[in-house]
Amino acid sequence: MQLQTELDSVDQIVDRYSGEKRSLIGILHDTQTEYGYLPREAIKRIAERVEIPLSQALRVASFYAAFSFEPRGRHLINACLGTTCHVRGMGRILEKIESDLGVKAGETTADRRFTLETLRCLGCCSLAPVMRIDERTYGRLKRDKVEGILKRFE
Ligand code: FES
Repeated sequence: MQLQTELDSVDQIVDRYSGEKRSLIGILHDTQTEYGYLPREAIKRIAERVEIPLSQALRVASFYAAFSFEPRGRHLINACLGTTCHVRGMGRILEKIESDLGVKAGETTADRRFTLETLRCLGCCSLAPVMRIDERTYGRLKRDKVEGILKRFE
């Protein structure tokens, strides 16, 4: 984080919410949208500006799964490891995704193109095996389709 420049952006976000502590979640959300994650220096600045202890800001940010303290990829892959997807071969498809991207589930690619995560049931088991990339769902996946799908994302 290039400290002063980055903190100027944080200040602008806090200003948009008039520095009100009741807007903490909105401020954290916009900060994450700006940087792709919540840098610690940014959370510290937000806590100072809305006049709450840093520990409180960290607790709120930790509570919501949508917030991340680590840099995230531009695209989020959710590979389903629910029972139906698992039975229909998602384990081997996930291996293919990991191998193509050079990361394990829970990690972000070095070029910050993708963050790969797994979850239990995307709620569309009839399409199993399934993965979602950002808002798009890819059902009836096959290993040999993975590479082509990943190439569509910059
Ligand atoms: S188990 Fe994968 S969508 Fe339900």
